[in-house]
Amino acid sequence: MTVEVPNVSIDELVLHGRVRLEDLVDREGLDELCQTFVTLFGIPVRIYSSEGALLGGVAGEQELCAYVNTTTQGRKACAAIVGTVKAREPDGTGDVVTTCFTGAAYRILALEYDGRRVGRLIVGPFLPNNVVDVPASLLGVDPSVAKDRAWSLLGKMPLAKAETITRIAAHFKAALDLILFSGHKALITNKMHLASVRESYRQLEEKTTRLQEAFDRLKELDRLKSNFLATVSHELRTPLTSIIGYSEMLSEGLAGEMKPEQHEFVKTIHDKGEQLLSLIMGLLELSKLESGTMRMTMRTIRIDPVLSDVVSTLTPAARKRVIKLELDIGPNLPDLRGDPDRLRQVFLNLVENATKFTPEGGSITLRARTVEAESDGTEEEAGLSLLAPTRTRVEVRVIDTGIGIPAHERPKVFDPFYQVDSSTTREYGGAGLGLSIVKRLVEAHGGTIRIEENRPRGTVFVVSLPQAPLSAAQATSAT
Ligand SMILES: Nc1ncnc2c1ncn2[C@@H]1O[C@H](COP(=O)(O)OP(=O)(O)OP(=O)(O)O)[C@@H](O)[C@H]1O
Ligand SMILES: [Mg+2]
Repeated sequence: MTVEVPNVSIDELVLHGRVRLEDLVDREGLDELCQTFVTLFGIPVRIYSSEGALLGGVAGEQELCAYVNTTTQGRKACAAIVGTVKAREPDGTGDVVTTCFTGAAYRILALEYDGRRVGRLIVGPFLPNNVVDVPASLLGVDPSVAKDRAWSLLGKMPLAKAETITRIAAHFKAALDLILFSGHKALITNKMHLASVRESYRQLEEKTTRLQEAFDRLKELDRLKSNFLATVSHELRTPLTSIIGYSEMLSEGLAGEMKPEQHEFVKTIHDKGEQLLSLIMGLLELSKLESGTMRMTMRTIRIDPVLSDVVSTLTPAARKRVIKLELDIGPNLPDLRGDPDRLRQVFLNLVENATKFTPEGGSITLRARTVEAESDGTEEEAGLSLLAPTRTRVEVRVIDTGIGIPAHERPKVFDPFYQVDSSTTREYGGAGLGLSIVKRLVEAHGGTIRIEENRPRGTVFVVSLPQAPLSAAQATSAT
């Protein structure tokens, strides 16, 4: 929807703006005001804008005028007088009288607001009280005008003294002034409100444009970064594989026996090479996940073999650190849709972390449970949510009794390279990439990951994965 907001400056509104009668009071209001005066004083009044447009007033022909209009010459003279009255501007005093050939008069008064002329008030026709006989101009306008008839109709005209008209005009102006004042106030408030809405709208639009530009720039930078990382990682991997391979050959004595010290040096080269390789592999995976080029083979799988495999792979490492590693699989776990190798990678990472950050004598449990979640209504069954089956999820918890993660650090540990303790004296290895890869892999499976506290100590990582979509036959039997 487009909102039209007029372009009005405050200066224009309050200081130098031209106030127009018709902007301040509606026609109905002006008509009502005129009607009140006619009822009170019996003299017609009309209001004209400064451009000469009739804004309000009480019409109704005087009987004398109707009579004069029946004659050819009278009609012409009458039209001329009406034209003069309509067009006549009051002079400097703001008050002028036009006398008709019938002897009736019109007072034309300037209407002012805030020191500026905004229109004219025309009071009349009325018969000034000094008219004592049928004026010669009326008798002479057309030979068919009859004196007696003219005199009797003159008597039906509203009679008024000049002072009475002055008083009526003053009352009228005072009443109009009041109406104009409140109308002006309402107009200013209205326009100021519109101006401020317009300004806010403009600012908002400006900010949105700036945000969009920044967002586009960041997206482009992010894409460049991912491409760069992918290329660099790939190029680094090849020479590194040679370094690792040759150091292994040296260790195995393929190039002749080495002294113990040489052995130690070569071992360091090998270990650091492996460390660097895993960092490069991590970067490569992250950039593939970020750019959406990671290849995953999704199929319907069971999660228990994946978790058993993780436990058996990491049991030796846990045992070495005197940590108890247990697997606890709940009943009736539903099938999931996923890539088992990637899910294995997720839980290997989490259990490796748990092992790394749990002191000797601690324990780690890998627990899988079925959780019934209400349908989120976003799928086809939206609108039929009462009939829709609940969406089952599997929650896998990696529970350790380790050093724990403070609540305020929990959202940050999923950022690449973020480590809770990043000091140089940090006793745990790693680059800080594991969890960022884990989170993206879980999300690629339509899942979520969160961290909870383990009481009295330790951390719980909760990975929640949706059940594989039901086949049509299963869906029918489920409802
Ligand atoms: N189970 C845990 N207990 C306590 N802190 C943890 C645990 N898991 C992760 N963290 C904290 O989160 C940080 C990020 O973990 P992440 O796996 O991303 O990196 P890393 O293990 O330090 O390095 P990498 O996984 O790349 O080898 C860790 O450095 C650690 O501070
Ligand atoms: Mg890790």
